[in-house]
Amino acid sequence: MKSPAILLSILIAACYQSAMAITPATSALKPRTCGAPADAVPFYRTYNSAKIDHWYTYDVNALNSFNPQGWAFQNALGFVFLTQEEGTAPLFHLFNSGVTDNFYTMNSSEVTAAQQNGYGISGNPSTVYIYPTQVCGSVPVYRLYSASGTDNFYTTSESERVEFIANQGYTDVEITGYVLPVGPCS
Ligand SMILES: *[C@@H]1O[C@H](CO)[C@@H](O)[C@H](O)[C@H]1NC(C)=O
Repeated sequence: MKSPAILLSILIAACYQSAMAITPATSALKPRTCGAPADAVPFYRTYNSAKIDHWYTYDVNALNSFNPQGWAFQNALGFVFLTQEEGTAPLFHLFNSGVTDNFYTMNSSEVTAAQQNGYGISGNPSTVYIYPTQVCGSVPVYRLYSASGTDNFYTTSESERVEFIANQGYTDVEITGYVLPVGPCS
């Protein structure tokens, strides 16, 4: 029996592949400037309610190993690249073990500032690559922050963004970057 995370990753990958397969040649996807969408992988979202921390990873093995430590699988944020394909730039991943917060940013000034504030570059996962501007059919990654939970939270759902601001104590920070959407099956 495969784990739920593995089954979900297969399902999401299948949905995404079928969505790509029906994309007409005239679509906005331009291989020369967009990288190869087939190389993109799901970036999974987990949540640790005891620590109040959202953690994102493409690594299904890491997902399964952190699950017993309280990080529950939730969904996929979108699709990201594991190498720097054309049009993409690094999304840095930092972690602060003192306050248990996973933090993601494309802004190298913010990386430096975070490193002076208790965060270190994390290997779970290593850097992934996303679009710094809205190109190639990508969607915004909204970044929200809860000061009381010390939690950086990222979502591509506009309705979830509104709900977290209205009811869950989060404030709007910025659009962190742009990812390929999970697709019509999600
Ligand atoms: C990067 O972060 C710094 C420090 O927060 C900020 O002043 C700057 O405007 C940011 N740059 C971009 C491109 O968002």
